[in-house]
Amino acid sequence: MSKKNRKLFSTRSQKYKKSIEECTNIIATSPFWIQFSTTIKVVLNGSNLSSILCYGLGNFFESIQSKYQLGLLLTIKNEFKVKNCYVYDPKFTDAERTHLAEVGCDSLSENEEGKRNLLPGTFVYMPHCPKQLLNNLLWANWNKEILMSCIIVCNSIDQTVTSTLDRILNKYAYYVKKISPYVIEKKCCDNFIYDDVFNDMSLHIFPVEKFKELENIFWERGKEPMYDNDELEFITKFECMSFQS
Ligand SMILES: C[S@@+](CC[C@H](N)C(=O)[O-])C[C@H]1O[C@@H](n2cnc3c(N)ncnc32)[C@H](O)[C@@H]1O
Repeated sequence: MSKKNRKLFSTRSQKYKKSIEECTNIIATSPFWIQFSTTIKVVLNGSNLSSILCYGLGNFFESIQSKYQLGLLLTIKNEFKVKNCYVYDPKFTDAERTHLAEVGCDSLSENEEGKRNLLPGTFVYMPHCPKQLLNNLLWANWNKEILMSCIIVCNSIDQTVTSTLDRILNKYAYYVKKISPYVIEKKCCDNFIYDDVFNDMSLHIFPVEKFKELENIFWERGKEPMYDNDELEFITKFECMSFQS
């Protein structure tokens, strides 16, 4: 890179960093955060979060929605003193990955398609992610002890199930549909100053009382979910391999 381009790149990165800091400050001092953090504290009831897993943040250097969503991630990390914070989006640029490392987040190097085994006590954050990603995460963690110990903030499961045709749910979100009657959803994301940043999202928990009635057969899971490559928004690991080659 020439000296001139290096300077331009560095000035641009500084500008992006500053705007992310500003968004993080706006979140951390907002009535939205007071309500959101109170909900998390009530759910945690004195226990700690072991880690954060975030999928699908998008290009936060460019997108204003993603910048605020990153601001929320960093505010949660900071307030709840969570050291381990794993982040992945196949669209991240190298500059975004560098920025994430600087703010204490580990970018995952592979597209796991959401099939990561969660540690107990993980806070999962998937802002406006494709339903296949949540379906895969549930499939990979189809275990009541794990689910009961985790919090998932993502598009409202209730809304997804009620607004999607059964045929589509069975194909792309079978586990989302199956778990939906046993989830408690807290609508805590609607009162942010901009209505396109956290809209349609909820905090989901899986309480022991809801699972009590379930027989062991409920927890038997089928084979690994796979989807066609042409599905809008969801990026498979095979697509990532073809970007790289
Ligand atoms: C609708 S966009 C949401 C972006 C941003 N969070 C927002 O609200 O504007 C869905 C995001 O999911 C990401 N995504 C798709 N497949 C993914 C995968 N396999 N793992 C993680 N993220 C994925 C896309 O790259 C995209 O950034």
